[in-house]
Amino acid sequence: MSDYSIAVIPGDGIGPAVTSASEETVAAVADRFGFSVETTAFDWGTERYLDRGAMMPDDGLDRLAEFDAVFLGAVGHPDVPDHVTLHGLLLPIRKGFDQYICKRPNVLFDGIESPLRGYEGGDIDFVVYRENTEGEYADIGGREHAGFDHETAVQSALFTWRGTERIVRAAFEAATERAGTLTSVTKSNAQAHSMVFWDDVVAEVGEEYPEVSVERILVDAAAMDLIRRPDEFDVLVASNLFGDVLTDVGAQVTGSMGLAPSGNIHPGEAYPSMFEPVHGSAPDIVGEGVANPLAAVLSWSMLFEDLGEDDAAAALWNAVADQLADASAPRTPDLGGDAGTEAVVADLRDRL
Ligand code: NAD
Ligand code: IPM
Ligand code: MN
Repeated sequence: MSDYSIAVIPGDGIGPAVTSASEETVAAVADRFGFSVETTAFDWGTERYLDRGAMMPDDGLDRLAEFDAVFLGAVGHPDVPDHVTLHGLLLPIRKGFDQYICKRPNVLFDGIESPLRGYEGGDIDFVVYRENTEGEYADIGGREHAGFDHETAVQSALFTWRGTERIVRAAFEAATERAGTLTSVTKSNAQAHSMVFWDDVVAEVGEEYPEVSVERILVDAAAMDLIRRPDEFDVLVASNLFGDVLTDVGAQVTGSMGLAPSGNIHPGEAYPSMFEPVHGSAPDIVGEGVANPLAAVLSWSMLFEDLGEDDAAAALWNAVADQLADASAPRTPDLGGDAGTEAVVADLRDRL
């Protein structure tokens, strides 16, 4: 019997609600599959920032490093600029723990209506491999000459061969285990340095995967095609920013932001990986008790899969799928229902 210790950062907005709701399903599944999960909660986030001037303590990463994995709810608060909160908590964990694979599945579940016409459950099923440590999020740049007409801002993107190669390779590996098609998203028509470099990496790594068919697509066309023909995608690989944008599109075409899970994965033993819903702190619905907890539950499923607890991962995923396929089950308003977070999770616990 394995014991896992998981760091839990509920964070801001609806983060705490979806985190505590989804944790109830974790207890149920661990019990059933005979392992134990000890969670340790960290009250890091914007309340802490407003109180003490920092989103997390100076030794925050050292403290998280002890755990088998990290679960995060959401970060972001209307009273503090987002670049302060995100650079104070979420982004340093992704980068500090070298979680270079941001894996984001987009599945249209049975029983869920896509806003796009003509798709049924199972028709849309793709996964985005988003580069997660560099690219447009490299945090290189600055502002000069504030207050003058000639004020400037520079925000550079950094693409290293190693950084690009490893995410592209991870995506090729995923494609070999799925339908064998990889779509590489770039903007090489306009960004002749970074994105042509990216294309070169894809071409070189692709030589090792002759069985995978590679499609290259420009990001603007990808945004269009995720709406026009979402059923044709299998694995997509994209830079940090492009992957961010396209996974919100993916979440919506598969029903809701409230259903989209993600993993920030460091594949080695050196650091823990972190799992979180794709959505943010949703200030527009905070405190109403209606946040959809399923993106969080599916993120726990990804966490258990990463820990090698495949049965527990499948049980969580399938319980969500069963619930969504059941027209009489409670649903939150983002899915057209009128149930609250608690009712959805109570029903899920029964299914587990
Ligand atoms: P958001 O994802 O918080 O919300 C977008 C829309 O989706 C809102 O209408 C919201 O109500 C809805 N929504 C999101 N999650 C939902 C859920 N579980 N159930 C039902 N509806 C849900 O994105 P935003 O409004 O652009 O950002 C709000 C804040 O969150 C900002 O501070 C932003 O920086 C932050 N953010 C954080 C993360 C993160 O922590 N990983 C991700 C995205 C945005
Ligand atoms: C996400 C979010 C974050 C990102 C923000 C909040 C920094 O949008 O996880 O998708 O851009 O990665
Ligand atoms: Mn995003």
